[in-house]
Amino acid sequence: MSEDRLGPARAAFGPIAMPVTIVASAAEGRGSWATATVMYVSFRPPQICVALSPGSRTLAMARASGELSVSLLAASQQSLAIRAGRRTPGDVVGIPDAYALPPPDGFHSRGVAGAMETLWCRVENEVPTADHVLVIATVVVQQGGLEDGSDRPLLRLHRRYHALGEALSEPSPEGYPI
Ligand SMILES: Cc1cc2nc3c(=O)[nH]c(=O)nc-3n(C[C@H](O)[C@H](O)[C@H](O)COP(=O)(O)O)c2cc1C
Repeated sequence: MSEDRLGPARAAFGPIAMPVTIVASAAEGRGSWATATVMYVSFRPPQICVALSPGSRTLAMARASGELSVSLLAASQQSLAIRAGRRTPGDVVGIPDAYALPPPDGFHSRGVAGAMETLWCRVENEVPTADHVLVIATVVVQQGGLEDGSDRPLLRLHRRYHALGEALSEPSPEGYPI
């Protein structure tokens, strides 16, 4: 897609700080990975959605297998975000062994070792948008996510990578559950 056609999206979405994740899927013994963003869309059960390009190989494998993993990257993992965010020509490679977490029971998708957390999810449904496909998925297995402050989440803002800054409040001063 040309830069000019994406101008309105860049202007509107550039100021929105988003978590940087690696979405991974696997089917027929092969894996795929893609840098993407994520948001939560249901509490009971916990569900997330990811917007994937219709031509995404990660989307194709998630469709085929009905599952995917979402690893929320840490600030120290910027190089992985860059790597998984570039489409490699030829065959899909998936998460290389050196960075891979093994799938939990009942799943085939790998996770990213050293991520803030990894969520293994079952695909529930898809909603087409104008140029992406929203994949809504239920979280089945959650791994990591300790609030020990040993690393900080990686964020995307104004086309740059950032590390999350300092906390400004005690947990949930207004009572919101998340
Ligand atoms: C910061 C960042 C965020 C991205 N977010 C998305 C996204 O939300 N959805 C998407 O389809 N691609 C996104 N991409 C692009 C994919 O990661 C990239 O096209 C990848 O090569 C797709 O791989 P696949 O076709 O094997 O699935 C993003 C890339 C970067 C660098």
